[in-house]
Amino acid sequence: MPSSIICMQLSVFFFMLIMGTNATLGFGFGWVSGGGGGSGEGYAPLSPDFYDLSCPQANDIVISVLEKAIAQDPRMAASLLRLHFHDCFVQGCDASVLLDDSPTIASEKRAKPNANSVRGFEVIDEIKVALEEACPGVVSCADILTLAARGSTVLSGGPYWEVALGRRDSRTASINLANVMIPAPTFNVQRLLASFKQQGLDETELVALSGAHTIGMARCASFKNRLYNQNGNNQPDETLEKAFLNELGSVCPASGGDNNLSPLDYASPKAFDNTYFKLILGGRGLLFSDETLVAGNGFPNIVELVKAYAEDEALFFSHFADSMVKMGNISPLMGSNGEVRQNCRRVNNY
Ligand code: HEM
Repeated sequence: MPSSIICMQLSVFFFMLIMGTNATLGFGFGWVSGGGGGSGEGYAPLSPDFYDLSCPQANDIVISVLEKAIAQDPRMAASLLRLHFHDCFVQGCDASVLLDDSPTIASEKRAKPNANSVRGFEVIDEIKVALEEACPGVVSCADILTLAARGSTVLSGGPYWEVALGRRDSRTASINLANVMIPAPTFNVQRLLASFKQQGLDETELVALSGAHTIGMARCASFKNRLYNQNGNNQPDETLEKAFLNELGSVCPASGGDNNLSPLDYASPKAFDNTYFKLILGGRGLLFSDETLVAGNGFPNIVELVKAYAEDEALFFSHFADSMVKMGNISPLMGSNGEVRQNCRRVNNY
């Protein structure tokens, strides 16, 4: 960054400090130079050095809380990675998914893809408390979700990527958008791609990001129809490999057990690797939305990508990292839009 811009940022910072405004602390120095993009027209785009002056220890704090949380509960890495996805697909990466119900908020946590399913909110709270202690009012909840998603991936053995920061937090949430914009496990490849395209993501990003299912678990409710009644004819999904179908049947009975869990990648559920792609090529993908990637159905590029990632883990890692950056850049609030919440569960001065 040119020194003239740094000087300008510093002088504005000290001016705001003298004026005694809290808002200054939330700006994190990333907002003066031109550029724009996203919803903060006229402000600097997201930048990896956004907190370099205002909270240089931000990532270290995130990682230290994550290390503890994941050591206690290895699934937490998967849950936090998923939270970032469910945040970004609903009115952009603005931490709207973290807001609890209140007189002005209908929480996205109650939407069908989230209810009784998304988790990790206590860990985000813990990170926020630690950050508020170290640098009050500076690091947004939306950036915490971004850093937690990367940290969780790395701590599970997956790739590292540089994250751009400076997202601000929404003062709104949308349960309706959460119901509509987050793709369902019953979607076929065509619908999955349409859903990703709505967010500006392409075929490569769909396949690479689906590889997040290399870690974590799903409830029987999310794949039970595949075992007992895929097409309304009381028959299992014929793309399910038979031995795998039998194993799943012992976890998910025909009636009840909807909250029983099965790993998305049973071969290595805690390791971020490319096994997921090998499994779906063998009919051992857990969700219909996983298995549909190899169905063909007019999407030969998608099948080729699955094969390429199954053969070449480094290629998967590199595409996953690029795709996470792109997903993390969906419609961020920047500059004077939104706010830096003090508590990720509620808007300031509600
Ligand atoms: C392609 C469309 C996608 C669909 C249809 C989908 C659907 C699902 C479903 C149904 C579950 C299980 C939820 C439950 O039963 O409680 C799940 C879990 C998970 N999803 Fe996805 N997902 C998709 C894409 C993604 C993306 C893009 C990411 C992240 C980049 C992701 C990360 C995860 C993770 C890590 C888990 C395990 C969470 C845990 O164990 O707590 N998913 N997904």
